[in-house]
Amino acid sequence: MKISIFGLGYVGCVSAACLAEAGHDVTGVDVDLTKVDLLNGGKSPVIEKDLETLIGKAVKNGTLRAVASADDAVAGSELSLICVGTPSRPNNSLNLDYVDRVCREIGRALKKKTHHVVCVRSTMIPGSTENHVIPSLEEGFGGSLPDRIQVAVNPEFLREGTAVHDYFNPPKTVVGAASSDAADHVVSLYEGIEAPVVKTSIATAEMVKYVDNVFHALKISFANEVGTLSKILGVDSHEVMDIFASDTKLNISRAYLKPGFAFGGSCLPKDIRAILYKGRSEDQDLPLLSSILPSNDMQIDRAVRMIQEAGKRPLTFLGLSFKPGTDDLRESPLVILIETFLGKGYDIRIYDENVSLARLVGANRAYIEKEIPHISNLMIADLDEAMRFGETIIVGHDDPRFAKVVSKLSGGKTVIDLVRLFDAPPDGIDYHGFNW
Ligand SMILES: NC(=O)c1ccc[n+]([C@@H]2O[C@H](COP(=O)([O-])OP(=O)(O)OC[C@H]3O[C@@H](n4cnc5c(N)ncnc54)[C@H](O)[C@@H]3O)[C@@H](O)[C@H]2O)c1
Repeated sequence: MKISIFGLGYVGCVSAACLAEAGHDVTGVDVDLTKVDLLNGGKSPVIEKDLETLIGKAVKNGTLRAVASADDAVAGSELSLICVGTPSRPNNSLNLDYVDRVCREIGRALKKKTHHVVCVRSTMIPGSTENHVIPSLEEGFGGSLPDRIQVAVNPEFLREGTAVHDYFNPPKTVVGAASSDAADHVVSLYEGIEAPVVKTSIATAEMVKYVDNVFHALKISFANEVGTLSKILGVDSHEVMDIFASDTKLNISRAYLKPGFAFGGSCLPKDIRAILYKGRSEDQDLPLLSSILPSNDMQIDRAVRMIQEAGKRPLTFLGLSFKPGTDDLRESPLVILIETFLGKGYDIRIYDENVSLARLVGANRAYIEKEIPHISNLMIADLDEAMRFGETIIVGHDDPRFAKVVSKLSGGKTVIDLVRLFDAPPDGIDYHGFNW
């Protein structure tokens, strides 16, 4: 395919050289003439392992060249990759000036074209394609883009230092596009590269890149704070993390990575408090680990606001224990939520089969009678009766019976779903997903 690449920095140069190596015909564009000259001389404008060899080979073969004019590059290609920088502004917001400018230039060049795909590889906050890329392309083009000129997003996952290797061995290929035609066009660039291909919406593709980078940063800081604490305690942090990472069921896995409601229970909050106390007693701050419980409390506060804003009383809660399948109420975030609304004078009923049983028998009976008798008295044993009672139904447990009764609700009632009972909520109910 004939490709033009805008921005010959790390991402642009690596993409240009690797796409040429894969058999494509590539024209690089940069406003920096030194970079243009270097590339045309077979030299790499950036230091990166194996890159200069690939550039030298492609320039010699005539499959790679650089120019300073967007016009020529767009005219001679069917797809343009945008790889310009997206730095921070002094207030930390994302500076999209380079993206806006390059899009206006490409837009002007597109006036002479009947079909083209403009694909952004630069990292941009979700909404940037809609609010910057398309309007700037249209500004340059002088009106709405015709259907045959399409826009896509294809985030780059390479790491400096191993960028060429990463290009040919990516963890995944993600393409966001409004049409499958545009997505297929971009995917075809990477034929022969073994990696799962994900086609999605533009905003999701934009978001995935941030989630990846934030998670990588989180992993590094997490491991470093574990190291800080381990060193103080005389434990070998590398041995600890090797054992930790060998658990691919709960640790290095999909477990606990679905957005939902706050955690609770008899272990997580207590154990975080204990380890933070130990750090403090050794005069050691652990800012990342210290932020976990405030973050969790913030989710409970958000749920309070959401239920209040729904504005309908009385309330029915489906679920009371800290997670489904247990009667354990210790530090259940649902108990905290319910207590908040009792304090505000709301009329409430609660359905939780396991807790109802525990009130009669079970080891939790004493806890219920002693610690939360005010809540225990609000329990209803019949699910249908619970559903009739509340004008706002708060779903706190993921239980197929709850999905069934909620989908049968008739109009008028509001549902606040803290667990994502449905990927696509049923029609005809006033449904609010908590973190989606
Ligand atoms: N560097 C990385 O490891 C990496 C990895 C993945 C994603 N990203 C993202 O990719 C994007 C590019 O990063 P980079 O590190 O390659 O940036 P960079 O600063 O190294 O290169 C950007 C290039 O764009 C050029 N440019 C600016 N305006 C232009 C215009 N109007 N026309 C043509 N060229 C123009 C600049 O002269 C520069 O050479 C950023 O959004 C970054 O966040 C970077």
